[in-house]
Amino acid sequence: MAFHDTSVEVMLSAEKLQARVAELGAQITKDYQGKELTLIGIMKGSIFFLTDLARHVDLPITMELMGVSSYQGGVETTGEVRITSDLTKPMHGRHVIIVEDIIDTGLTMKFLLENLGARHPASVKVATLLEKPSRAKVKVQIDYKGFVIEDRFVVGYGLDYGEKFRNLPFVGVMRTD
Ligand code: IMP
Repeated sequence: MAFHDTSVEVMLSAEKLQARVAELGAQITKDYQGKELTLIGIMKGSIFFLTDLARHVDLPITMELMGVSSYQGGVETTGEVRITSDLTKPMHGRHVIIVEDIIDTGLTMKFLLENLGARHPASVKVATLLEKPSRAKVKVQIDYKGFVIEDRFVVGYGLDYGEKFRNLPFVGVMRTD
């Protein structure tokens, strides 16, 4: 029995995640032929998605990481985002894809689009593994989307609950019973 069996119910299996990530990688490979592409993973939640996605992109990409944290007002993000770890290279003139784990209210992605846009890249697109559209507070254009999910708190494949459960190979829902 695995440590998570009693606490987490599988929503998206490892096989389902891997198949979809491979499709997204193939699409990105097609879309960025002949272009200088940088994947920017947002820590920590996107790291599993980022590394799997990157292995399905058949192009000489570069990779960067950016750490952000949202200020909490009660249980919800206030939309005020702080950069905790910045990129190591200038993005001027590069094609970039921001790689996120989940777009919930959209406030973090709105901040990231404005922040990266100010660095004058050639283009900025958004890839997210998950979207919870019922919770959106701002409209964000998503160019590469893994799965649309209902409004449940999910963990695994990078997503955490109190910093735990990121290492599950699947996405699951915390059991409340
Ligand atoms: P947003 O600014 O509300 O779109 O929040 C995005 C961030 O909130 C994500 O990058 C996650 O870190 C976190 N988040 C939102 N929903 C969940 C969830 O269901 N499980 C784990 N983290 C979540």
